[in-house]
Amino acid sequence: NDKYTQERQEAYNINKDAARYFYRSLVTNPKALEYLNKRQISANTIRGFGLGFAPESWEGLYRFLLSKGYGSEQIEKIGLIGKKSGNNGYYDKFRNRIMFPIIDTKSRIIGFGGRVLDDKMPKYLNSKESIIFNKGNHLYGLNLVNKHSNRKRILLVEGYIDVISLYSKGINYAVASLGTALTERQGRLLKRYGDEVYIAYDSDTAGVKATLKAIDILLKEDVKPKIILLPDGMDPDDYINKMGKIEFEKLFLNSYNHIDYKILINKKKYDLNDIEDKIKFTTEVSKIIKDLKSPVEQDVYINKISEDTGVSKEAIEKEIKGNKIYNT
Ligand code: CTP
Ligand code: MN
Ligand code: MN
Ligand code: MN
Ligand code: MN
Repeated sequence: NDKYTQERQEAYNINKDAARYFYRSLVTNPKALEYLNKRQISANTIRGFGLGFAPESWEGLYRFLLSKGYGSEQIEKIGLIGKKSGNNGYYDKFRNRIMFPIIDTKSRIIGFGGRVLDDKMPKYLNSKESIIFNKGNHLYGLNLVNKHSNRKRILLVEGYIDVISLYSKGINYAVASLGTALTERQGRLLKRYGDEVYIAYDSDTAGVKATLKAIDILLKEDVKPKIILLPDGMDPDDYINKMGKIEFEKLFLNSYNHIDYKILINKKKYDLNDIEDKIKFTTEVSKIIKDLKSPVEQDVYINKISEDTGVSKEAIEKEIKGNKIYNT
């Protein structure tokens, strides 16, 4: 419908003008530039990703967009400004934050993420969902993967900065799931844009949980992801900044399939020298093996676990049968 198309077009335009405003505010703000410099993000990268800065001001952006002829209601609808309480006008939603435009595969700015320069909470603020922005339908950085049509490999990471940092160091096929748990739509996008899907979420509790979730989503789409394990507490940005591109690329060679990954996570959780832990570990892993469809695959892993734990193959097989679905 025509009116709907027009409204969307105007929303894209507002975001584009906002991005220009943020960009200009960034390149004239020493404090914000210094922050990005400290994060090893160069002027070139700032330009390439259209990064910006939302200044301290309560209505700098609002006034700028009004001067461009946009209406308050339209600007509010895409979450750049909010209504003051008591129907008293509007204020800028993003203040004192580094701004990351979120660009779709048709090169339109559909929303923004904004990061504080310090440890204030929330660390990131994102545009609200709108007629042009459904978080779960997009992957941050996919527009660039598209450009390079590097369709062999795609790497799923958590954050804006992971994508940017990897890209600036020569890994131009990383995308981020925009702070949400991976959705089915995003899973299908990964499948479409890459023949091999790798996951490198943060190496922390939240990252492990999100990885397990993403594995399930991808398996449902018939994609068998490979998982990259980073040293404890690190994310891809930390790792490539510390170790460089060559070392980062080695991670792909040392990546795990989803079974090995799950087993490894359990190994970290339990101490195999402790009897009770060993039992728990074997029980947990038996559940993972139970889900394997191929008897050959099951057998390979039963052997592995038997070697790791000293529990007999027969006992593990029984454990799996006890859990019922042992396909013979
Ligand atoms: N995120 C979010 N809202 C938050 C925290 C995180 O939307 N309050 C999303 C952002 O897209 C962020 C990603 O989740 O990029 C990963 O979060 P996190 O690992 O905490 O941040 P980093 O990307 O590592 O950012 P930084 O390195 O600047 O700390
Ligand atoms: Mn494909
Ligand atoms: Mn994280
Ligand atoms: Mn980080
Ligand atoms: Mn992180």
